[in-house]
Amino acid sequence: MTINVLTLFPEMFSALRTSVIGRAIDNGVVTLRTVNIRDYSADKHAKCDDYPYGGGAGMVMTPQPIFDAVRAVDPTHACKRIYLSPKGKTLTADKAQQLAQCGDLLFLCGHYEGVDQRALDLCIDEELSIGDYVLTGGELAAMVTIDALLRFVSGVLGSEQSAADESFSKARLEYPQYTRPRVFEGLEVPEILISGHHENVDKWRREQSDTLTRKLRPDLMEKRG
Ligand code: ADE
Repeated sequence: MTINVLTLFPEMFSALRTSVIGRAIDNGVVTLRTVNIRDYSADKHAKCDDYPYGGGAGMVMTPQPIFDAVRAVDPTHACKRIYLSPKGKTLTADKAQQLAQCGDLLFLCGHYEGVDQRALDLCIDEELSIGDYVLTGGELAAMVTIDALLRFVSGVLGSEQSAADESFSKARLEYPQYTRPRVFEGLEVPEILISGHHENVDKWRREQSDTLTRKLRPDLMEKRG
């Protein structure tokens, strides 16, 4: 799977090249290609933004560098092209799982006050938001989306783990986890986890999940099939 990211700040994506996602990139499970939109600017100073027509605060990203970058990276429109924006549909686990099955992807990250609408009309298939708040750019939203979707790509998580088994996919919150030491600052690991009785451990974990979900996210209980 190839994930292309078009951004004015490719250096921000170094955060994705660490830990679990970094290993998936190193192992060739996914190719992460960050492209600097500025490299495609036809302006002699590589300018990529300008004042908004009609006035108003801030700058708007001009369409030409975006249009040319998209055409260079995805000339046959083989990728699903996504623009990160608060106007988009909100990212969910289901959406992340769908994107994981879409083949190659292209994410466009806006900055400043946004992107000239014509670049979006010409280049973009879908807008996606990561929540009802406004970020200073789409980069963090792209990284959140990429991390969430890659967990559904086989070979990204360890073989014994599956994103589909975890919170939200099953509309339940995760049970609490413990590791050594058995007693820490006077707090003990629940006895049942040390019992070695797998059925009882599973039952305890299911009950913990249910109790936590009911208490912290009662809205999720209604989503259960
Ligand atoms: N760009 C700015 N804010 C955003 C958000 N909430 N989601 C996605 N992209 C954004």
